[in-house]
Amino acid sequence: MRHLRVPSAETQDWLALCRSSNWLLTTAGVVRLEGDFRGIPLVEHAPAEADLCWNGHLHIEVEGKGKGPVHWTERLPEALQELPKDTWPSAYEIQGDVLIVKLEGPAAAHGEDIAQAMLEQLPNIRLICADEGVKGDFRVRDLNVLKSRDETEHTRTRVREHGHFVWVDPAKAYFSTRLSSEREKTLTSIRKLRADLGRPLVLADPYAGVGPAFPLLFAEPGLIDGCLAGDLNPDAVELLRMNVDYWQSKRSDGPLKRTEIICADALLWSDNPNLREQADVLLVNLPHDSLDHLPSLLPLLRPGNPVMIRGWAIREREHLSEDTDALRQILSDNGANEIEVDLSEIKGFSTSKCFVAFECRFTI
Ligand SMILES: C[S@@+](CC[C@H](N)C(=O)[O-])C[C@H]1O[C@@H](n2cnc3c(N)ncnc32)[C@H](O)[C@@H]1O
Repeated sequence: MRHLRVPSAETQDWLALCRSSNWLLTTAGVVRLEGDFRGIPLVEHAPAEADLCWNGHLHIEVEGKGKGPVHWTERLPEALQELPKDTWPSAYEIQGDVLIVKLEGPAAAHGEDIAQAMLEQLPNIRLICADEGVKGDFRVRDLNVLKSRDETEHTRTRVREHGHFVWVDPAKAYFSTRLSSEREKTLTSIRKLRADLGRPLVLADPYAGVGPAFPLLFAEPGLIDGCLAGDLNPDAVELLRMNVDYWQSKRSDGPLKRTEIICADALLWSDNPNLREQADVLLVNLPHDSLDHLPSLLPLLRPGNPVMIRGWAIREREHLSEDTDALRQILSDNGANEIEVDLSEIKGFSTSKCFVAFECRFTI
C-alpha cells in the first residue's frame, strides 16, 4: 500500500493536509517507519510522488496497518473469494471520484460485486465504471456505469494536477495523468524562453483537450500573457472553457490579456488571420499525427523572435534519429533559422514503437 514517508514530527501537519485534500486512506492507520519516520496511507488517486505538493517526501510501498480489509477483493462475497486471485483486475484508474476498471475474462460476470466491494473499500469514490475500450472520432473511453454511491451516474469530475484543479470527464474528453512530468518540463522550457525574450509569452495549444498543460503556466506570475487553446471535440472544449475561467480567476497577477478558446480543426487555425503569427510557444499533442500536422501549424508562430514548439508523438524506436532530421527539415522547409531540435523517448508504447517528446527552438 502506498504511504507518504514523513519525519514523525511533521506527521500531524501532513495528516491534516492529506485529510483536507481527500488523499488520506481512512481505512488504514499511520505506520511507524525506521529512523523516526511515519508512513501516511494514501488513497489511489493521491498525486504521484513526483508531484510538487509532497515537498520531495518519498512514497513507499509498505503493508497497510489494518483498520479493516486492506484490499477491495477482501470485501467480495465469500463465495467469490474462493475463486483464483488472478480472476480479479489487478489495476484500475481513478480520475477524481470516478474509478475506471477493465473487466476481462471471468471478472466480467461479476461487475456488480466488484463495484460494490470497491465502493466499500474506497470511501472517496462515487462511481465505478467498466472500461469498454475507446469509441468515436475523438477516441474517448466507452464507459459502462457499474455502480454509484449516491445514484448520480455522471462522469464529470475534478482531478488535481500539480496541486491545481482540472475538470475532466473520462467518458467525453481525453485526459491522462501520464504526461504530468512532461507538463513540468514545459514550464521549465517556457521559463527559459520567457527569460530570453524578456517579456511574457503567448501560448498556443490547438490539441488542448481539457487543458492540463495550462494550470502550471497560468499559476506563474508574468510567465504568459496570452493563451490560444482549442480542441476539435466540443465536449473537451466545454471543460477547457470551465478550466481556463477557473485558472484565470486564481491568477495572482490578474487575468491574462488574451485568452481564446477555439473549437476547430487545428489544421485550419492558420486560415484565421487573428490566430496567425501570434504565438511564441506552440504545443502539439496529437501523438499519431504530430509531425504530419506541423507544417500547417507553423504559421501560428510569431516571426522575428525565437519561438518554441513542444510536442509529443508515437514513433518507431529504431528511427528516432531520422525523426530528428525530419523535424529539422520540416522547420527549415518552412523558413525557420537557427534551429535546435531535441527529440527523445519518454516511455515505451509497444515492442517497436515508443512515445517521444520533442522540443524545437528556432526563429521564423
Ligand atoms: C492526445 S489528446 C491530448 C489532449 C491534451 N493536450 C492532454 O495532454 O491531455 C489529443 C486531443 O486532440 C484532439 N484532436 C484530435 N484531432 C484534432 C484536430 N484535428 N484538431 C484539434 N484537436 C484535435 C482530441 O479531441 C484530443 O482532445
